[in-house]
Amino acid sequence: MSEPIRFYYQGKVREAGALSPTRTVLQHLREDLHCTGTKEGCAEGDCGACTVVIGTLKDGGLELKSVNSCIQFLPTLDGKALFTVEDLKQDNGRLHPVQQALVEYHGSQCGFCTPGFAMSLWSLYLKQEGAAQPPCRKQIDETLSGNLCRCTGYRPIIDAAQRMGELPHAAFDRAAVQAALESLQRERMFSYTHDSQTFHAPRTLDELAALRAAKPAATILSGSTDVGLWVTKQMRDLGDVIYVRQVPELLRMRTYGGILEIGAAVSLDDAYRAICEHYPQELTELWQRFASQPIRNTGTLGGSVANGSPIGDSAPWMIALGARIVLRSAEGQRTMPLQDFYLDYMKKNWQPGEFVEAVRIPLPHTGLQFRTYKLAKRYDQDISAVCAAFAMTLDKAGVARNVHIAFGGMAATSRRAPLAEAALEGQPWNEAALNAAMAALAQDYTPLSDMRASALYRMRTAQNLLRRFWLETRPEQPLPAAAINAFAYSDNYALA
Ligand SMILES: Cc1cc2nc3c(=O)[nH]c(=O)nc-3n(C[C@H](O)[C@H](O)[C@H](O)COP(=O)(O)OP(=O)(O)OC[C@H]3O[C@@H](n4cnc5c(N)ncnc54)[C@H](O)[C@@H]3O)c2cc1C
Ligand code: FES
Ligand code: FES
Repeated sequence: MSEPIRFYYQGKVREAGALSPTRTVLQHLREDLHCTGTKEGCAEGDCGACTVVIGTLKDGGLELKSVNSCIQFLPTLDGKALFTVEDLKQDNGRLHPVQQALVEYHGSQCGFCTPGFAMSLWSLYLKQEGAAQPPCRKQIDETLSGNLCRCTGYRPIIDAAQRMGELPHAAFDRAAVQAALESLQRERMFSYTHDSQTFHAPRTLDELAALRAAKPAATILSGSTDVGLWVTKQMRDLGDVIYVRQVPELLRMRTYGGILEIGAAVSLDDAYRAICEHYPQELTELWQRFASQPIRNTGTLGGSVANGSPIGDSAPWMIALGARIVLRSAEGQRTMPLQDFYLDYMKKNWQPGEFVEAVRIPLPHTGLQFRTYKLAKRYDQDISAVCAAFAMTLDKAGVARNVHIAFGGMAATSRRAPLAEAALEGQPWNEAALNAAMAALAQDYTPLSDMRASALYRMRTAQNLLRRFWLETRPEQPLPAAAINAFAYSDNYALA
């Protein structure tokens, strides 16, 4: 018989067994443990009603992150701590300051999504412990980006977020949780089997490569923000599962030789934080607009690249920057430009037994002009209709070199625009060259109409985004982002 899944919940270590490896954390909470405070709204990571906080050992400490429990499989909890709205109750029976503030400001409106709001706010409360100031509006907005309120609005909830830190402090015993988790760590690969389906969590790169070679048909699982939905929405049978987020080599980031290398299992949030240190002006908005905070906490850059959705937000800018993908198998490692990895709709240039080990992102160099723009109907938590990325090196004479233009949402894969690039390559970066490139874009792509946008909208906006890039980067009188971007803020272009 397989070893049980072990995790820390409500002050003790729990064991779970005889359950499907794709049973979700939410199903386990509600249906097996009868802890029904956590709600199910959408079962696809969108609404936040199911938000819980997961504690993981990281760099010798305890990391606590909000997560959508509806799309996380139970065996991924092995060796971790789970916190739900039931944990907020204080020993003296009082409400936690997060709950008290929600009550005082009438922030519990429909009640259904309130536990999710409370847990997102609790994750912020913990981050804020010891801070001199209450959280700012931007921090609150980011924290709540994965919680949808469809009734009266966010105002009372935001007020509660500002108030919660002023109430008598509720202590959280990190040391006790950390000690419990230390006792739960495994030295060897964890394999959990039920009904002849096995969930494997290898602990080294070699183990992962050997397992992948032995089981080429198994489903690789990383942050589960795509794969989770295959089960909850499409009722797919995943067969055996290989979970990659316990492999230390896949969780590291390093900088060398003008490259930032990011392991495939690094969370989107950590990956974008590291990238934005190098490209703050160019990528910070995309980081904030990529899904929501809980999705970024679990989803990974490797998963996003491996999935290869034509409307994914990471591939366009990585292709424009000339990033490379690192593939690994039992035979060894090979790399290729990311643009060569995508062959056609959901068709990738890899062999059975290969998986994504890392991505290598070139760091900025002199003369680089680079921007990326996401067009979606909402600021947070929305998939792009069009995602554009432009990179070129302007020489001292203002001539464009190494022009790379890549779009998501315009073709069956994220891909470059060879004709538009050719119209700009070696040309002065002026309006005549821009107009030629805008016209060429219409030959580069034949976008589709779908529920997100019409083909005409996609083409017009793609061309206009190229113009926006020119307005921001032209050698004469470049405009600051705040002059063109409704979301940007500066003293000269202050939003009311
Ligand atoms: C609510 C919601 C909002 C979203 N919003 C956005 C958005 O704004 N922008 C956007 O681009 N995406 C968005 N997504 C999509 C999703 O977050 C990304 O595709 C995500 O980055 C996938 O990463 P993951 O780690 O969760 O992958 P998983 O779901 O674990 O896996 C995805 C795919 O990659 C494969 N895979 C994973 N890791 C590896 C590996 N190391 N080697 C080989 N194969 C691997 C899996 O087998 C699977 O086929 C959203 C998803 C949800 C649920
Ligand atoms: S139930 Fe909607 S995000 Fe999980
Ligand atoms: S609080 Fe639930 S919809 Fe607004």
